[in-house]
Amino acid sequence: MTDQTATPRSFSASVPLKGRIAIPGDKSISHRSLMLSALAVGESRVTGLLEGHDVLATAAAMRAMGATIERRNDGEWRIHGVGVGGLLQPREALDMGNSGTSTRLLMGLVASHPITTTFIGDASLSGRPMGRVIDPLSLMGADISASPGGRLPLMVRGLAPAIPLAYRLPMASAQVKSAVLLAGLNTPGITEVIEPVPTRDHSERMLKGFGADLTVELGADGTRHIRIRGEAELKPQTITVPGDPSSAAFFIVAALLVPGSDVTIANVGLNPTRAGLVEVLQQMGGSIELLDAREVGGEPVADLRVRHSALKGIAVDPAIVPSMVDEFPILFVAAALAEGRTVTTGLDELRVKESDRIAVMATGLQAIGARVEETEDGLIIDGTGGDPLPGGATIAGHLDHRICMSFAVAGLVGKAPVTIDDIAPVATSFPNFEELLAGLQQ
Ligand code: S3P
Repeated sequence: MTDQTATPRSFSASVPLKGRIAIPGDKSISHRSLMLSALAVGESRVTGLLEGHDVLATAAAMRAMGATIERRNDGEWRIHGVGVGGLLQPREALDMGNSGTSTRLLMGLVASHPITTTFIGDASLSGRPMGRVIDPLSLMGADISASPGGRLPLMVRGLAPAIPLAYRLPMASAQVKSAVLLAGLNTPGITEVIEPVPTRDHSERMLKGFGADLTVELGADGTRHIRIRGEAELKPQTITVPGDPSSAAFFIVAALLVPGSDVTIANVGLNPTRAGLVEVLQQMGGSIELLDAREVGGEPVADLRVRHSALKGIAVDPAIVPSMVDEFPILFVAAALAEGRTVTTGLDELRVKESDRIAVMATGLQAIGARVEETEDGLIIDGTGGDPLPGGATIAGHLDHRICMSFAVAGLVGKAPVTIDDIAPVATSFPNFEELLAGLQQ
């Protein structure tokens, strides 16, 4: 059956990409800016907020629970918070759209408030596991009824006061870590998350920035112990959101692959817990220069100058996976054009993203003529050595923005065009993706 509402889009062999672009704000930081501002007492101001559907779902949810959130004409967002403990019972189900981050972090927030909240989402989100947050939040006293398999729709009956917890993360997930820390915000005493493998630390940085009593202690084995003292009072902040490295990733790889390209991407967040892709592409021989390294909103940032390069396949160290967990789809495209073999392992978490990104990328890349073998926890890719891929296929995007954009980039180096069956999901994280691409093709 064809979806009548889908918007197919074709991408074909590109002229050299040239020029300078600024990519939109970081999705993870944008979600957290809205959530913490909505819990502070007073007015926070946020500039550079990503205005993609995922973040707008968070904004709508925080409004439904009592915060005042407005966008001024100059693009600045103003948020009046309700104070920790002050979230109101929403009148309707919270529609999370495609956004796993909104869902899991907000489940944490409401778990320690005396309100009952229903979460719904699109087909992709409704297939994703929520048991990973249901488990710790239930231990804190929340009563959660989920659909079969621990999925959406689900209902959270919060408990206030909730019970503080010391929770060891069973998987490397910043969303689970953040859900527990956010539940800890309105829980008396100390809530602790024990993180064996470090994941993105935006929640820790921002909670501290808002004045929460949060400490991070490193164990002898590298395990991180993150402790937050609850019943916190958050002070309003002025935040500048840096550009999203996960969005920059598509243009970094596009510039490396399209012959003759020379692109500067301004204001890219390079928090070490997010910058794995740049390191791996440099190991593969990619010419990526970091210019004007600086700090924006408490996060390291630089401009990246990227030039077309001959890439070589490598074995990607699984230890780097958490710092580039969202970048594997586009890395696979880079690997498909590299010389020699790229081997990736330790990617089990990719199977529970917006789609099963291992299977969907394997199928799609094979359809456009790449040599790819799927393993249980990764892909093995034998690249073309820089020759264009045959292309000439229609790819199912599975409501996954990063799949759509990865195959868009693959189309730029295809002999025949690559068609994405529905381009609409791109708007969840990168609404002006096509516009920026067209600007570099002038
Ligand atoms: C995110 C964490 C990651 C990432 C997602 C955003 C966050 O998910 O894939 O896009 O903002 O905390 P996991 O926690 O499932 O790894």
